[in-house]
Amino acid sequence: MIKSALKRLEYRGYDSIGQVTVDGGRLYVKKDKGRLEEVDAKYNLDDMPGSLGVGHTRWATHGRPAQENSHPQTDCENRIAVVHNGIIENYLDLKRELEAKGHKFQSRTDTEIVPHMVEDYVNQGMSLEEAFRKTINRLDGAYSLVLTSADRPRVILCARQESPLVLGLGNGEYYCASDLAAFLPLTKKAIILEEGEMAILDPNGIKILKSKNGALVKRDPITITWDPESAKKQGFPHFMLKEIHEQSRSLRDALRTQRIYYDLLASKIIDADKVFILACGTSYHAGLVGTLALAKLAGINARVVIASEFSDEALDLVTPKTAVLAISQSGETMDTLNAVRDAKAKGASILSIVNVLGSTLMRLSDVYIGQNSGPEIGVASTKTFTAQVTVLLRLAATIGRKKGEVSTREIGDLEDAIHKTPELIERIITTKAAEVRRIAEGCSNASSICFLGRGVSVPTALEGRLKLLELSYIPAIAYPAGESKHGFIAIIEEGFPVIFVAPKDETHKRVVGNIMEMKARGARIISIIEEGDEEVRDLSDQVVEIPESLPSLVTPIVYVVPLQLLAYYMSVLKGNDPDYPRNLAKSVTVE
Ligand code: F6R
Repeated sequence: MIKSALKRLEYRGYDSIGQVTVDGGRLYVKKDKGRLEEVDAKYNLDDMPGSLGVGHTRWATHGRPAQENSHPQTDCENRIAVVHNGIIENYLDLKRELEAKGHKFQSRTDTEIVPHMVEDYVNQGMSLEEAFRKTINRLDGAYSLVLTSADRPRVILCARQESPLVLGLGNGEYYCASDLAAFLPLTKKAIILEEGEMAILDPNGIKILKSKNGALVKRDPITITWDPESAKKQGFPHFMLKEIHEQSRSLRDALRTQRIYYDLLASKIIDADKVFILACGTSYHAGLVGTLALAKLAGINARVVIASEFSDEALDLVTPKTAVLAISQSGETMDTLNAVRDAKAKGASILSIVNVLGSTLMRLSDVYIGQNSGPEIGVASTKTFTAQVTVLLRLAATIGRKKGEVSTREIGDLEDAIHKTPELIERIITTKAAEVRRIAEGCSNASSICFLGRGVSVPTALEGRLKLLELSYIPAIAYPAGESKHGFIAIIEEGFPVIFVAPKDETHKRVVGNIMEMKARGARIISIIEEGDEEVRDLSDQVVEIPESLPSLVTPIVYVVPLQLLAYYMSVLKGNDPDYPRNLAKSVTVE
């Protein structure tokens, strides 16, 4: 039963699988890296004793996929087992504290501190429930946690903070899971655990408590009408739309990366005589923002190169003092890997920003940072771009600080703005989606669409163009706005849609000039603007207003969101499948 629930959850992560059951006063654990079928073929996951158990499918954030890093994680005596989704930000401090008390750690995960800390409190005389509550109150970050104990064979404890956890009420059976898909075939009766709550499951039912003070919470179950397939998409019609919405959460996770990774990467870049950024597609567009950020914040002249062009264009320049920063969601893109291998053969240091830990790119890297976006199922990348830009801005700021190129105040302003983006994106999606849909309706018969921007909005425009053409199949164009008069303007005629990415930054005045040029030739002007920018609003036929003023470098994270929505709606209006655009694959493993 646990195995089939894991199958339904595999889309949430699939690099390692584990199960624990409790029987006869001991824990039985089977776990390893690999997909469910592989781990099952090796260990026969259905063959485990007992009537209470927990399963986990992992998407690595701390510690590469390996048997010892798979969940459950256990305490010193193998009597407490814990599975976890999320990231515990202060785990290094807590790990040091527990090690000083003699606890022995087996993995490189952040999760393992939980069973050890619970063990510690139980040894001090607390009940399991008290020890668990006390432990979770010491955690910073995001978690949904589930705990079992050999000494309490009829009890499961669980808790959540910023990661989802739902409870299911079956016929004399109770479940908890990171999403409804896990237990929907077994029961439609569910309770959604809220932020900062924990629950105790035993054969008598479910008890919900406030994690902070242990106060009892009363909540009636709801009846779920979704089928298991739509539950995977959390009620969204497509994974892409779910992933666009999810960005407010994935960005919070991207912001949880430990400082130490930034410091390591920063030192390698500072020590290098040349810096190349390599990537393909959306990751390349993030790289363009990264180059600008490194120039502006850190005085570093990094050259971004499309990975498939790198060896022809720049390999001759690579020496052992060169740093190559490869950016890839999958970590398996053949063009990126080939370029990295060529640079490595010439002795360059290989740095990377990756989403899939354990991927080939991660293994080829001397230092990497995880972008922490979680699995991206939609073939067109969305949450990848915003997370990669977030990481790149923070990396550039770290280097700028180390080199004394930026003031503490500038970094503070940038950090504040970056931390605002998750909430801002949430607001934009809630309040602007209807307007974007109207824009999509107005453009759905266009034979072509153009995206223009200046400065840091050029990569945003390029990314908007890529999303639109790969999903709607409408040939789309993107240009630096100033370059458009050197040729492209010839194709403008009455009603041609031109989308301007026009934040109110240092390029604004010149962008206004470009809008006028296009308008004078009959273009239909659609602009993504800062709220209150009446000048551009008056020149535009339609606008999407971003309700906050942001430092220029942060704007791509937010201004790209209406463009992602536009591409999504255009795809749906054209009758295409936005999750699986034709001729494309999620991971391009051919040259
Ligand atoms: C576009 C898209 C692709 C990828 C590109 C690189 O929506 O998804 O262009 O960005 O194939 O993939 P990664 O980042 O996995 O190397």
